[in-house]
Amino acid sequence: MFVKKEAADTAMPDTTVYDFNTVIERRGTASVKWDLADRLFGGQGLLPLWVADMDFASPQPVIDALAKRARHGVFGYSACMDGYYTAALSWMHERHGWQLQKDWLVFCPGVVPALNMAVQAFTRPGGGVIIQQPVYYPFMRSILANGRRVVNNPLRLSDGRYEMDFDDLARKARDPDVSLMILCSPHNPVGRVWTQAELEQLGAICCDNKITVVADEIHADLVLPGYRHIPFAALSDDFLQAAITCTSPSKTFNLAGLHTAHAIIADPEKRKAFSNALVHSGLQWPSAFGTVAHEAAYSSGGPWLAQLLVYLQGNLEFLKAYIAGQLPHVQVIEPEATYLVWLDCRALGLDWRGLKALMQQEAGLALDEGYIFGDEGRGFERINIACPRSILRECLDRMAQAVKRHAGTAHTPAGR
Ligand SMILES: Cc1ncc(COP(=O)(O)O)c(C=O)c1O
Repeated sequence: MFVKKEAADTAMPDTTVYDFNTVIERRGTASVKWDLADRLFGGQGLLPLWVADMDFASPQPVIDALAKRARHGVFGYSACMDGYYTAALSWMHERHGWQLQKDWLVFCPGVVPALNMAVQAFTRPGGGVIIQQPVYYPFMRSILANGRRVVNNPLRLSDGRYEMDFDDLARKARDPDVSLMILCSPHNPVGRVWTQAELEQLGAICCDNKITVVADEIHADLVLPGYRHIPFAALSDDFLQAAITCTSPSKTFNLAGLHTAHAIIADPEKRKAFSNALVHSGLQWPSAFGTVAHEAAYSSGGPWLAQLLVYLQGNLEFLKAYIAGQLPHVQVIEPEATYLVWLDCRALGLDWRGLKALMQQEAGLALDEGYIFGDEGRGFERINIACPRSILRECLDRMAQAVKRHAGTAHTPAGR
């Protein structure tokens, strides 16, 4: 993976030249993506580009910090110390221009646990929670599993770009039983980076109706050139008081298996309610390795991230060129952020079952099927391009061959 390694000390700038092309074998590492794909999807030898982690090693300073911690050898209960907070605060300030206060940060072992805590803390059983489908499916699960009601404010696809439907949102927000909205910003799977105007309109509707906004900003650092992520809570004092911002170094630096995330909550009442929910579930303590990785990544991961973003951009260009040439029935929804690409496969003329069979059984691929993100996702596939280009190429070759075999029965897409 590494051509040059000079960055063992996290105080030194990382001068490693990273090579994202080399395939690192992940089978046999208890990887959800690789070791569980066949079992979960039902197949053999499926090529997995589904769950949102990367096939790349983390930044060298993170690996070095974890190795040093492992050599210590004593792995008792651990806590978030000053370095944890300082690293997160500096990162948010330098990257996103948002000056946080240390006591706003609440550790949680993941953003999905944080969503569940927010649902438990800020809604009543049976109460409504607004989400915008198609959206990351654990949003819906966190609502239903806690005995609450999904209030869907579907995104609208207009000229290949997704937009919010504010009239529908305003109508649904007026329901007195709705007290929470979960916003995905940037949005998984449609890849939108919401503009200031969009966030302001959404925030105004929620504040007018006293709705707490959980802003899931886990993809905030993975923004493509030409776009800028704006933290929802940084836009006004009202939004700050209304918001629970969930974020983590896990997507940015590929640390999902270390279970480290945090909620940013300025309002002390809300912070207390959220922290109580965490304590009641026994989820308030970090792992010995999670905090080490968090601190090293936020303090020294910048150079790795800069190189990663260039590589991901290259993968996206490769995917778009390949699809334009070989898969005319598939339309790429141009992402503005994330390493997840939303593919509109409706022109193949298959229902969701047929599309699933084509991708899994015919192509031998494990992708996240669009329908799991909500009914609006039927006919779509989500592909994770955070992998060496050779894996992406193999995935697209498999897809193109399967689609060609199927072509006899597919519609010819109009005008494409
Ligand atoms: C929008 C969003 N939130 C949360 C998560 C998962 O967060 P965690 O692994 O910290 O629970 C993901 C992972 O794909 C995601 O896309």
